[in-house]
Amino acid sequence: MKALVLAGGSGTRLRPITHTSAKQLVPVANKPVLFYVLEAIAATGVTEVGMVVGSTQEEIERAVGDGSAFGLEVTYLRQDAPLGLAHAVLISREYLGDDDFVMYLGDNFIVGGIDPVVRRFHADRPAAQIMLTRVTDPRQFGVAELDASGRVVGLEEKPPAPKSDLALVGVYIFTPAVHDAVAALKPSWRGELEITDAIQWLIDAGRRVESTEVSGYWKDTGNVTDMLEVNRLVLEGLEQRLDGKVADDCEIIGRVVVEAGAEVAGSRIVGPVIVGAGAVIRDSYVGPFTSVAENCHIAESEIEYSIMLHRASIHGVRRIEASLIGRDVEVTPAPNTPRAHRLVLGDHSKVQISS
Ligand code: TTP
Repeated sequence: MKALVLAGGSGTRLRPITHTSAKQLVPVANKPVLFYVLEAIAATGVTEVGMVVGSTQEEIERAVGDGSAFGLEVTYLRQDAPLGLAHAVLISREYLGDDDFVMYLGDNFIVGGIDPVVRRFHADRPAAQIMLTRVTDPRQFGVAELDASGRVVGLEEKPPAPKSDLALVGVYIFTPAVHDAVAALKPSWRGELEITDAIQWLIDAGRRVESTEVSGYWKDTGNVTDMLEVNRLVLEGLEQRLDGKVADDCEIIGRVVVEAGAEVAGSRIVGPVIVGAGAVIRDSYVGPFTSVAENCHIAESEIEYSIMLHRASIHGVRRIEASLIGRDVEVTPAPNTPRAHRLVLGDHSKVQISS
């Protein structure tokens, strides 16, 4: 069995971060989402990974390399345009050969791994095995309809009137039968080759499609709200470790990690919080569920429930909350008079200002 990891896409929901960076590399608890994906694949014993990449190929290659750090052999497969999940399978045809494969969306986060579902597939070997989870608003997802025995009888992409509350999770296992399905597809109304259409094709052709309900937690980290929620969840599992320099005048409460090479002085940190190597925090408050990446600077400021990417800095700003702050971003207070906001924001930035 091989793995196919989808790390291309356009990432419109995470703009402006995705103007300059791959969304799969946004860190959760200071580790890129994509690394959790690769670890979950390595845990199943699969070693050959095809990584579908688009315009952010270079950055992804820099981060993942040949995959040996994860015990994997990664081959990069260039998708010229993000024309859909089934299109990613289409361009990977030669790499996948006649092997079964697990397809994993590179921005999806699943707690508890995929080992059980891979084992179930091997025992049963249906044409396709999908993972499902119950959601409150199925209209935003691919939705599966099951018969009484649990077999998948129909799939719909973002249906206005969903037939169930079972949404597709971004992990699928396929036999080579999927290649016939993908080759027969026409683009959907949104111009993409849809993986749901490929699976529906298999069902219509009388092939067996089985499903497993995910017991643990699943989120697609494609938007800021979900990214912050996944960050919260991972930080919940943190254990206190103060390897960096923490001055005596600090108050450290709960599970806080200060990596070697980080410095904290005159500050109050209420965990769970992770502070990356080379970060400096001075005369500030850092509240629960915050990830501060390597070489960030926080001075005379307050921040909580947020993610700061590499080298971001916050100086003299009172309370930042529920925020995703990109690499090399500088946040500073406006001069007191005249009372006005002065903004230099990239295209597609989102700012909420109390005024
Ligand atoms: P999506 O989040 O469904 O699509 P997207 O990345 O285009 O994002 P947005 O909706 O915000 O514009 O993609 C899921 C994963 O699959 C993600 O890791 C990107 C990847 N992907 C590809 O590699 N190729 C593709 O053609 C598409 C559509 C997605």
